[in-house]
Amino acid sequence: MAYKVGVIKGDGIGPEIVNEALKVLDKVSKVYDLDFSYTDILMGGISIDKTGEPLTDEAVKTAKAQDAILMGSIGGNTTTSPWYKLPPEKRPEAGLLRIRKELGLFANLRPAMLYSELKEACPLKQSFIPQGFDLVMVRELTGGLYFGDRETKEIDGKLVAKDTLTYSEDEIRRVAIKAFDIAEKRKKHVTSVDKANVLDSSRLWRKIVEEVARDYPDVRLDHMLVDNTAMQLVKNPGQFDVILTENMFGDILSDEASMISGSLGMLSSASLNETKFGLYEPSGGSAPDIAGKGIANPIATILSAAMMLRFSFDQDKTADSIENAVKQVLKEGYRTIDLISDEHTGVVKRVNTAEMGDLIADRIV
Ligand code: IPM
Ligand code: MG
Repeated sequence: MAYKVGVIKGDGIGPEIVNEALKVLDKVSKVYDLDFSYTDILMGGISIDKTGEPLTDEAVKTAKAQDAILMGSIGGNTTTSPWYKLPPEKRPEAGLLRIRKELGLFANLRPAMLYSELKEACPLKQSFIPQGFDLVMVRELTGGLYFGDRETKEIDGKLVAKDTLTYSEDEIRRVAIKAFDIAEKRKKHVTSVDKANVLDSSRLWRKIVEEVARDYPDVRLDHMLVDNTAMQLVKNPGQFDVILTENMFGDILSDEASMISGSLGMLSSASLNETKFGLYEPSGGSAPDIAGKGIANPIATILSAAMMLRFSFDQDKTADSIENAVKQVLKEGYRTIDLISDEHTGVVKRVNTAEMGDLIADRIV
Protein backbone atom coordinates (compact mmCIF):
# COMPACT_ATOMS: atom_id res chain seq x y z
CA MET A 1 0.00 0.00 0.00
CA ALA A 2 1.16 3.54 -0.78
CA TYR A 3 0.49 6.49 1.46
CA LYS A 4 1.16 10.20 1.03
CA VAL A 5 2.45 11.65 4.27
CA GLY A 6 2.89 15.40 4.72
CA VAL A 7 5.73 16.15 7.12
CA ILE A 8 5.74 19.32 9.20
CA LYS A 9 8.97 19.32 11.13
CA GLY A 10 8.41 22.79 12.53
CA ASP A 11 10.49 24.51 15.18
CA GLY A 12 12.56 23.78 18.28
CA ILE A 13 12.93 20.06 18.86
CA GLY A 14 10.42 19.39 16.03
CA PRO A 15 12.94 18.38 13.32
CA GLU A 16 14.89 16.13 15.73
CA ILE A 17 11.90 14.17 16.95
CA VAL A 18 10.24 13.91 13.53
CA ASN A 19 13.44 12.47 12.06
CA GLU A 20 13.25 9.62 14.55
CA ALA A 21 9.61 8.94 13.70
CA LEU A 22 10.58 8.83 10.00
CA LYS A 23 13.34 6.40 10.88
CA VAL A 24 10.79 4.13 12.52
CA LEU A 25 8.38 4.49 9.58
CA ASP A 26 11.17 3.54 7.19
CA LYS A 27 11.72 0.37 9.16
CA VAL A 28 7.97 -0.28 9.21
CA SER A 29 7.77 0.18 5.44
CA LYS A 30 10.43 -2.51 4.97
CA VAL A 31 9.02 -5.02 7.43
CA TYR A 32 5.36 -4.58 6.42
CA ASP A 33 5.89 -3.71 2.77
CA LEU A 34 4.25 -0.29 2.90
CA ASP A 35 5.19 2.61 0.70
CA PHE A 36 5.29 6.07 2.30
CA SER A 37 6.02 9.13 0.21
CA TYR A 38 6.93 12.18 2.24
CA THR A 39 6.32 15.82 1.37
CA ASP A 40 7.78 18.52 3.59
CA ILE A 41 5.36 21.27 4.55
CA LEU A 42 6.49 24.53 6.13
CA MET A 43 4.62 25.76 9.16
CA GLY A 44 5.36 27.82 12.25
CA GLY A 45 8.44 29.89 12.94
CA ILE A 46 10.50 28.33 10.18
CA SER A 47 7.78 29.27 7.71
CA ILE A 48 7.78 32.84 9.05
CA ASP A 49 11.54 33.00 8.52
CA LYS A 50 11.31 31.65 4.99
CA THR A 51 8.05 33.15 3.70
CA GLY A 52 6.92 35.81 6.16
CA GLU A 53 3.79 33.78 6.97
CA PRO A 54 3.28 31.04 9.60
CA LEU A 55 1.40 28.97 6.98
CA THR A 56 1.12 29.89 3.32
CA ASP A 57 -1.83 29.14 1.02
CA GLU A 58 0.47 26.86 -0.91
CA ALA A 59 1.30 24.89 2.24
CA VAL A 60 -2.41 24.50 2.96
CA LYS A 61 -2.95 23.21 -0.57
CA THR A 62 -0.11 20.72 -0.22
CA ALA A 63 -1.44 19.59 3.16
CA LYS A 64 -4.90 18.95 1.71
CA ALA A 65 -3.39 16.71 -0.97
CA GLN A 66 -1.91 14.25 1.59
CA ASP A 67 -3.41 11.15 3.17
CA ALA A 68 -2.18 12.25 6.59
CA ILE A 69 0.24 14.66 8.21
CA LEU A 70 2.95 13.93 10.71
CA MET A 71 4.03 16.95 12.67
CA GLY A 72 6.75 17.82 15.18
CA SER A 73 6.04 21.05 17.00
CA ILE A 74 5.94 24.75 16.32
CA GLY A 75 6.74 27.95 18.16
CA GLY A 76 9.58 29.39 20.18
CA ASN A 77 10.28 31.11 23.44
CA THR A 78 7.41 33.56 23.79
CA THR A 79 9.44 36.10 25.74
CA THR A 80 12.66 36.09 23.73
CA SER A 81 11.87 34.96 20.18
CA PRO A 82 11.38 37.73 17.56
CA TRP A 83 8.37 35.77 16.24
CA TYR A 84 6.43 37.04 19.25
CA LYS A 85 7.03 40.67 18.32
CA LEU A 86 4.81 40.07 15.27
CA PRO A 87 1.05 40.69 15.32
CA PRO A 88 -0.83 37.61 16.67
CA GLU A 89 -2.04 36.46 13.23
CA LYS A 90 1.57 36.30 11.99
CA ARG A 91 2.95 34.23 14.87
CA PRO A 92 3.79 30.51 14.69
CA GLU A 93 0.65 29.36 16.55
CA ALA A 94 -1.55 31.11 13.98
CA GLY A 95 -0.26 28.58 11.44
CA LEU A 96 -1.32 25.68 13.64
CA LEU A 97 -4.77 27.14 14.28
CA ARG A 98 -5.22 27.81 10.57
CA ILE A 99 -4.29 24.30 9.50
CA ARG A 100 -6.69 22.82 12.09
CA LYS A 101 -9.49 25.01 10.73
CA GLU A 102 -8.64 24.56 7.03
CA LEU A 103 -8.55 20.78 7.35
CA GLY A 104 -11.61 20.69 9.61
CA LEU A 105 -9.73 18.81 12.36
CA PHE A 106 -12.44 19.12 14.99
CA ALA A 107 -11.52 16.13 17.18
CA ASN A 108 -8.22 16.02 19.01
CA LEU A 109 -7.41 12.70 20.67
CA ARG A 110 -4.78 12.71 23.36
CA PRO A 111 -4.22 9.39 25.07
CA ALA A 112 -2.55 9.44 28.47
CA MET A 113 -1.52 6.27 30.20
CA LEU A 114 0.94 5.09 32.73
CA TYR A 115 3.40 2.57 31.35
CA SER A 116 4.26 0.17 34.12
CA GLU A 117 7.92 0.67 33.17
CA LEU A 118 7.62 4.41 33.88
CA LYS A 119 5.87 4.23 37.24
CA GLU A 120 8.75 5.98 38.93
CA ALA A 121 8.62 8.94 36.56
CA CYS A 122 4.97 9.60 37.55
CA PRO A 123 4.85 12.52 39.98
CA LEU A 124 1.76 11.15 41.76
CA LYS A 125 1.93 9.12 44.95
CA GLN A 126 1.76 5.44 44.06
CA SER A 127 -1.19 5.10 46.48
CA PHE A 128 -3.25 7.36 44.15
CA ILE A 129 -2.71 5.08 41.18
CA PRO A 130 -2.92 1.51 42.44
CA GLN A 131 -4.13 0.25 39.04
CA GLY A 132 -2.29 2.85 36.95
CA PHE A 133 -4.48 4.70 34.44
CA ASP A 134 -5.28 4.64 30.77
CA LEU A 135 -7.43 7.46 29.46
CA VAL A 136 -7.97 9.39 26.28
CA MET A 137 -8.86 13.04 26.13
CA VAL A 138 -11.13 13.98 23.25
CA ARG A 139 -10.76 17.72 22.85
CA GLU A 140 -12.90 19.82 20.51
CA LEU A 141 -10.36 21.59 18.34
CA THR A 142 -11.93 24.05 15.92
CA GLY A 143 -14.40 26.01 18.04
CA GLY A 144 -14.77 27.80 21.34
CA LEU A 145 -12.52 30.56 22.59
CA TYR A 146 -9.78 29.72 20.09
CA PHE A 147 -11.89 30.69 17.11
CA GLY A 148 -14.41 33.16 18.55
CA ASP A 149 -14.44 36.89 17.81
CA ARG A 150 -11.87 38.79 19.76
CA GLU A 151 -10.84 42.40 20.02
CA THR A 152 -8.86 44.81 22.08
CA LYS A 153 -10.06 48.39 22.13
CA GLU A 154 -9.99 51.50 24.20
CA ILE A 155 -13.11 52.46 26.13
CA ASP A 156 -13.05 55.71 28.07
CA GLY A 157 -9.28 55.84 27.86
CA LYS A 158 -8.80 52.26 29.19
CA LEU A 159 -7.87 49.21 27.17
CA VAL A 160 -10.44 46.43 27.16
CA ALA A 161 -9.86 42.99 25.62
CA LYS A 162 -12.59 40.55 24.70
CA ASP A 163 -12.61 36.90 23.59
CA THR A 164 -15.83 35.05 22.86
CA LEU A 165 -16.72 31.42 23.49
CA THR A 166 -19.31 30.10 21.04
CA TYR A 167 -20.46 26.54 20.34
CA SER A 168 -23.20 25.41 18.02
CA GLU A 169 -25.07 22.18 18.66
CA ASP A 170 -23.59 20.65 15.49
CA GLU A 171 -20.04 21.36 16.65
CA ILE A 172 -20.78 19.72 19.98
CA ARG A 173 -22.60 16.76 18.47
CA ARG A 174 -19.91 15.70 16.01
CA VAL A 175 -17.12 15.66 18.61
CA ALA A 176 -19.37 13.93 21.13
CA ILE A 177 -20.09 11.20 18.57
CA LYS A 178 -16.33 10.69 18.14
CA ALA A 179 -15.89 10.37 21.89
CA PHE A 180 -18.69 7.82 22.23
CA ASP A 181 -17.41 5.83 19.23
CA ILE A 182 -14.01 5.66 20.91
CA ALA A 183 -15.51 4.74 24.28
CA GLU A 184 -17.39 1.84 22.70
CA LYS A 185 -14.05 0.30 21.78
CA ARG A 186 -12.58 0.94 25.24
CA LYS A 187 -14.02 0.78 28.74
CA LYS A 188 -17.37 2.28 27.66
CA HIS A 189 -17.25 5.32 29.90
CA VAL A 190 -17.39 8.97 28.84
CA THR A 191 -16.77 11.81 31.27
CA SER A 192 -17.97 15.01 29.66
CA VAL A 193 -16.23 18.02 31.15
CA ASP A 194 -17.78 21.48 31.23
CA LYS A 195 -18.47 24.51 33.39
CA ALA A 196 -22.24 24.22 33.26
CA ASN A 197 -22.63 25.91 36.65
CA VAL A 198 -21.51 29.17 34.97
CA LEU A 199 -21.40 29.08 31.18
CA ASP A 200 -24.25 28.92 28.65
CA SER A 201 -21.97 27.21 26.14
CA SER A 202 -21.40 24.47 28.74
CA ARG A 203 -25.10 24.08 29.41
CA LEU A 204 -25.67 23.53 25.69
CA TRP A 205 -22.68 21.17 25.67
CA ARG A 206 -24.27 19.05 28.41
CA LYS A 207 -27.67 18.95 26.68
CA ILE A 208 -26.24 17.85 23.32
CA VAL A 209 -23.87 15.29 24.87
CA GLU A 210 -26.87 13.78 26.68
CA GLU A 211 -28.74 13.55 23.38
CA VAL A 212 -25.80 11.79 21.72
CA ALA A 213 -25.48 9.42 24.70
CA ARG A 214 -28.98 8.05 24.01
CA ASP A 215 -27.61 6.38 20.88
CA TYR A 216 -24.98 4.58 22.98
CA PRO A 217 -26.91 2.76 25.70
CA ASP A 218 -23.93 0.60 26.64
CA VAL A 219 -21.67 3.61 27.31
CA ARG A 220 -21.86 5.20 30.75
CA LEU A 221 -21.92 9.00 30.70
CA ASP A 222 -20.85 11.23 33.59
CA HIS A 223 -20.62 15.00 33.65
CA MET A 224 -17.86 16.67 35.59
CA LEU A 225 -17.06 20.34 36.12
CA VAL A 226 -13.70 21.38 34.75
CA ASP A 227 -12.25 22.57 38.06
CA ASN A 228 -13.17 19.29 39.71
CA THR A 229 -11.69 17.40 36.76
CA ALA A 230 -8.38 19.19 37.21
CA MET A 231 -8.39 17.92 40.78
CA GLN A 232 -9.60 14.40 40.00
CA LEU A 233 -6.85 13.96 37.41
CA VAL A 234 -4.22 14.17 40.11
CA LYS A 235 -6.28 12.48 42.81
CA ASN A 236 -7.66 9.48 40.98
CA PRO A 237 -6.84 9.38 37.25
CA GLY A 238 -7.76 5.70 37.15
CA GLN A 239 -11.47 6.65 37.22
CA PHE A 240 -11.34 8.02 33.66
CA ASP A 241 -11.71 6.27 30.33
CA VAL A 242 -12.71 8.89 27.72
CA ILE A 243 -12.73 12.55 28.74
CA LEU A 244 -14.75 14.69 26.32
CA THR A 245 -14.34 18.43 26.51
CA GLU A 246 -14.25 21.74 24.66
CA ASN A 247 -11.19 23.35 23.15
CA MET A 248 -9.74 25.49 25.95
CA PHE A 249 -10.52 23.08 28.80
CA GLY A 250 -8.99 20.30 26.72
CA ASP A 251 -5.83 22.30 26.11
CA ILE A 252 -5.29 22.78 29.82
CA LEU A 253 -6.39 19.34 31.03
CA SER A 254 -4.36 17.51 28.39
CA ASP A 255 -1.12 19.06 29.62
CA GLU A 256 -2.05 17.96 33.11
CA ALA A 257 -2.88 14.46 31.91
CA SER A 258 0.41 14.23 30.07
CA MET A 259 2.45 15.22 33.09
CA ILE A 260 0.99 12.50 35.29
CA SER A 261 2.10 9.99 32.66
CA GLY A 262 5.68 10.75 33.60
CA SER A 263 6.74 13.05 30.81
CA LEU A 264 5.28 15.28 28.14
CA GLY A 265 7.67 13.44 25.85
CA MET A 266 5.54 10.28 25.93
CA LEU A 267 2.21 11.48 24.66
CA SER A 268 0.99 11.24 21.12
CA SER A 269 -2.04 12.93 19.61
CA ALA A 270 -4.29 12.76 16.60
CA SER A 271 -6.43 15.53 15.17
CA LEU A 272 -9.20 14.15 12.99
CA ASN A 273 -11.96 15.32 10.70
CA GLU A 274 -14.93 13.43 9.26
CA THR A 275 -12.72 11.50 6.83
CA LYS A 276 -9.74 9.20 7.34
CA PHE A 277 -7.41 12.18 7.15
CA GLY A 278 -5.58 13.17 10.32
CA LEU A 279 -2.78 15.32 11.65
CA TYR A 280 -0.56 13.52 14.13
CA GLU A 281 1.73 15.26 16.55
CA PRO A 282 3.26 14.87 20.00
CA SER A 283 1.23 16.59 22.73
CA GLY A 284 4.27 18.45 24.00
CA GLY A 285 5.62 21.71 22.63
CA SER A 286 8.74 22.75 20.73
CA ALA A 287 10.89 22.92 23.90
CA PRO A 288 13.21 25.66 22.57
CA ASP A 289 15.41 25.35 25.69
CA ILE A 290 16.64 21.90 24.64
CA ALA A 291 16.37 22.27 20.85
CA GLY A 292 19.45 21.16 18.92
CA LYS A 293 20.93 19.30 21.88
CA GLY A 294 19.83 15.88 20.66
CA ILE A 295 18.34 14.98 24.03
CA ALA A 296 14.62 15.35 23.33
CA ASN A 297 12.42 12.31 23.78
CA PRO A 298 11.16 11.17 20.34
CA ILE A 299 8.69 8.62 21.73
CA ALA A 300 5.59 10.87 21.57
CA THR A 301 6.25 11.52 17.89
CA ILE A 302 6.93 7.86 17.19
CA LEU A 303 3.67 6.94 18.94
CA SER A 304 1.93 9.65 16.90
CA ALA A 305 3.15 7.89 13.76
CA ALA A 306 1.61 4.71 15.19
CA MET A 307 -1.68 6.55 15.64
CA MET A 308 -1.45 7.67 12.02
CA LEU A 309 -1.10 4.06 10.91
CA ARG A 310 -4.05 3.05 13.04
CA PHE A 311 -6.55 5.85 12.38
CA SER A 312 -5.73 7.07 8.87
CA PHE A 313 -4.32 3.94 7.24
CA ASP A 314 -6.17 1.15 9.10
CA GLN A 315 -2.85 -0.58 9.74
CA ASP A 316 -3.59 -1.82 13.25
CA LYS A 317 -0.98 -4.56 13.24
CA THR A 318 1.75 -2.18 12.17
CA ALA A 319 0.69 0.35 14.79
CA ASP A 320 0.80 -2.41 17.43
CA SER A 321 4.33 -3.29 16.38
CA ILE A 322 5.51 0.29 16.98
CA GLU A 323 3.77 0.48 20.36
CA ASN A 324 5.24 -2.86 21.38
CA ALA A 325 8.71 -1.76 20.28
CA VAL A 326 8.40 1.32 22.51
CA LYS A 327 7.33 -0.79 25.49
CA GLN A 328 10.16 -3.22 24.84
CA VAL A 329 12.79 -0.48 24.80
CA LEU A 330 11.43 0.95 28.05
CA LYS A 331 11.40 -2.50 29.61
CA GLU A 332 15.03 -2.93 28.68
CA GLY A 333 15.78 0.19 30.73
CA TYR A 334 16.54 2.72 28.01
CA ARG A 335 15.53 6.27 28.91
CA THR A 336 15.92 9.74 27.52
CA ILE A 337 16.76 12.28 30.19
CA ASP A 338 13.17 13.43 30.75
CA LEU A 339 12.23 9.90 31.85
CA ILE A 340 14.88 9.57 34.51
CA SER A 341 13.68 10.38 38.00
CA ASP A 342 15.58 10.52 41.28
CA GLU A 343 13.48 7.66 42.59
CA HIS A 344 14.61 5.29 39.90
CA THR A 345 15.44 1.89 41.30
CA GLY A 346 16.24 -0.37 38.32
CA VAL A 347 19.14 -0.12 35.89
CA VAL A 348 18.82 2.94 33.65
CA LYS A 349 20.55 3.23 30.33
CA ARG A 350 20.53 6.86 29.33
CA VAL A 351 20.22 7.48 25.59
CA ASN A 352 19.87 10.48 23.30
CA THR A 353 17.19 11.24 20.72
CA ALA A 354 18.77 9.37 17.80
CA GLU A 355 19.72 6.36 19.92
CA MET A 356 16.14 6.07 21.17
CA GLY A 357 14.92 6.14 17.55
CA ASP A 358 17.43 3.44 16.56
CA LEU A 359 16.47 1.20 19.47
CA ILE A 360 12.78 1.41 18.65
CA ALA A 361 13.32 0.92 14.90
CA ASP A 362 15.46 -2.15 15.63
CA ARG A 363 12.61 -3.73 17.57
CA ILE A 364 9.99 -3.39 14.82
CA VAL A 365 9.29 -6.94 13.76
C1 IPM B 1 -1.67 22.39 21.92
C2 IPM B 1 -0.93 23.69 21.96
C3 IPM B 1 -1.62 24.69 21.03
C4 IPM B 1 -3.03 24.86 21.54
C5 IPM B 1 -0.91 26.04 20.90
C6 IPM B 1 0.51 25.88 20.42
C7 IPM B 1 -1.67 27.00 20.02
O1 IPM B 1 -0.84 24.17 23.25
O2 IPM B 1 -1.77 21.79 20.84
O3 IPM B 1 -2.17 21.98 22.97
O4 IPM B 1 -3.27 25.64 22.46
O5 IPM B 1 -3.93 24.19 21.01
MG1 MG C 1 -1.61 22.87 24.72
